[in-house]
This record gives sequence, structure tokens and C-alpha cells, in this order.
Amino acid sequence: MARPRVLSGVQPTGALHLGNWLGAIRNWVELQDDHDTFFCVVDLHAITVPHDPALLAADTRRTAALYLACGIDPGRSTVFAQSHVSAHSELCWLLNCVTPLNWVERMIQFKEKAIKQGDNVSVGLLDYPVLMAADILLYDADLVPVGEDQKQHLELARDIAQQRINSRFAPEDAPLLKVPEPLILKAGARVMSLTDGRSKMSKSDPNEGSRINLLDPPELILKKIKRAKTDPTIGLVFDDPERPEADNLLGLYALLGGRSRGQAAADCAAMGWGTFKPLLAELAVEALRPLQERYRELEAEEGYIDQVLRQGRERASAVAGATLERVRAALGFLPVA
Ligand code: AMP
Ligand code: TRP
Repeated sequence: MARPRVLSGVQPTGALHLGNWLGAIRNWVELQDDHDTFFCVVDLHAITVPHDPALLAADTRRTAALYLACGIDPGRSTVFAQSHVSAHSELCWLLNCVTPLNWVERMIQFKEKAIKQGDNVSVGLLDYPVLMAADILLYDADLVPVGEDQKQHLELARDIAQQRINSRFAPEDAPLLKVPEPLILKAGARVMSLTDGRSKMSKSDPNEGSRINLLDPPELILKKIKRAKTDPTIGLVFDDPERPEADNLLGLYALLGGRSRGQAAADCAAMGWGTFKPLLAELAVEALRPLQERYRELEAEEGYIDQVLRQGRERASAVAGATLERVRAALGFLPVA
């Protein structure tokens, strides 16, 4: 039996933060043991909002380096840049032409981002989830590990594969595209902002103090945690709807310290914020230390990341190219002579 295939990706916009790590990348690392894993840096997605061309290449390299620093092993996983495999853009176009407009118009992330962009919304932003569907479907992925915010996009990818491609263009017993399953692990699936426990930690929050970036130095981590929003109650608890900040920070304490939720709740049940915050900062610094050390080593190895991405592109192109050919043929295109 072939190992189940996994595909996921993160955008190279801004710095990766604790939410990206705990909600997504950390889970990828374990999947490498018994899955056939593909991890891309989704640079085409990064230009769906206005971007700075002077930063894109360096951000893409840095994101790939962070994958490796987090424990992604290029010997076992295919690590590549989305834009290096042209099949992503091509399949996106084919899927665009069968996807109903109202399916993408109702995506929550689009609506949220569109509000922030005002009258500057690109067609690409609306099309973002169709490109994401292409990313996934090109690799016949069985599983897609993501944070909870991506669940709706995954459902769209499933609907496109099943209802718009397989049921229209393929015989029932020989589907053209694999219908993927989301893999959303509960712990870490939604890390919230340090400055507002009701909104998620996000790269696009203009307030740097709202997130801990994976490459933040220890002093900065301590400073951000000390300034994190609190409430007047003593003792940290989970699941109090009136205390989202306590829930979030206690969750981080558990995840970063490798403790169960029960144990974390017991540790901090009577703790004041003044005692808790330095402890949490210490856990965050220690959890990120090995990752940051590895990142610095990778950065020092001239040309290494580019070589990893080149090798990844070769493997990814072979798989993606074959799927694209299958879809082209089923849609009736004249074969390339
Ligand atoms: P993005 O930062 O939007 O490129 O997201 C990359 C990955 O990180 C996706 O799998 C997201 O679901 C996940 N992710 C982003 N923000 C968070 C968060 N605050 N909590 C948990 N997962 C997150
Ligand atoms: N949209 C995802 C996010 O913001 C990133 C992404 C793009 C992705 N393509 C993907 C995730 C394919 C998983 C699979 O988090």
C-alpha cells in the first residue's frame, strides 16, 4: 500500500508566528514518518493582496528555511515554491471555469480580507481558494493539515473535485481527482491574538505586539507576553467565554510546555497574571530556541535552501504535471503534439 499523500502550504507574507507553527507546521513534522509529504511555500497566494516585489524572493526562501528549522526533512518531504511549478496556475484556470462564482463569493476569508482592502480588491483575492484547490488536487492529496481557519477552503476544494470535475468529466468508477480530507488537530488549531483573545493571531494584524513570531528574540517575546491583554481575575482557566485571553494563554502554556490541558489548568488555577506571564515567556523562549538555532545554521549555508527548492520542484513537477495532463485530456483539449 502506498503511504497516504499529504500536501500543505503557508504564505510567505510577513513572519511566521506561533499560530502557523502550533496550528500547522508542527503537525506536518510528525506526518513525515508515515505519509508521502509535500510542503509548498505558496508564493502565488502572497500576491493576492498588494505586495512588495523587493521582498517576495527573500520571504519565500525564509519561509522554506523555517519549514526545515521546524523539522521538515527535505530527504523525506518534497519542499518547493508554488510558483516554480506552473501546473498550479494552469489547473487553477481550468478549475476557475467550472467553479460557480457564488461558491467563492461566500468564502469568509475573502469577505474579511475584502473589507480590509476597501476598493482595492483584486480578482486574485476572490480566486484564492480555487488556486488553493489546485494546489491540493494536483497532488491527489489524501490529507491536508491546516488550522481551523482553512476548513471552508478545504470544503470548497472537495466540492470542486467531486461535483465539478469527477461527476461531470469522469466515469463514476474512475474519478479524475482525489477528494481530499482536512486534517485539523484540535490542539493549536486556533491560536488567538495576544492583544485580543477573540481574534486569531495573524500575520496581517498591523500590531506587532499581537503575535509572537518564530524568529523573535527572547527579550521581545518577554516584552510581548508582558504586554499581552489580561483581565482582572486571578487564576487561569479554560473555556470561560468571558475570559478569552485566559483561555488562549493557558492553551499556549500547555502546548509550549508539553503539558496536558488538565495539568496546565491545575498548575495555573490559582496563579496571578504577574507570576504566570514570565513563566509563559520562558516556555515560549525555550520552545523556540532549537528552531531559531537551526534556522541560523541553515541561513549560514549559502545556496542550500535554493538547492532544496530546486530538488523539490523536480519531484513536485512530475506529480503535478501528470495530474494536469489527466484533467486536460478529460476536458477535451487538443494534445500537445
Ligand atoms: P497563513 O498564515 O494564513 O498563511 O496560514 C498558514 C497556516 O497556518 C494555515 O494552515 C493556517 O490554518 C495556520 N494558521 C494561521 N494562523 C493561525 C492561528 N492563529 N492559529 C492556528 N493556525 C493558524
Ligand atoms: N490558504 C492557506 C492559508 O492561508 C495556504 C494554502 C495555500 C494552503 N494553498 C494551500 C494550505 C494548500 C494547504 C493546502 O493558510
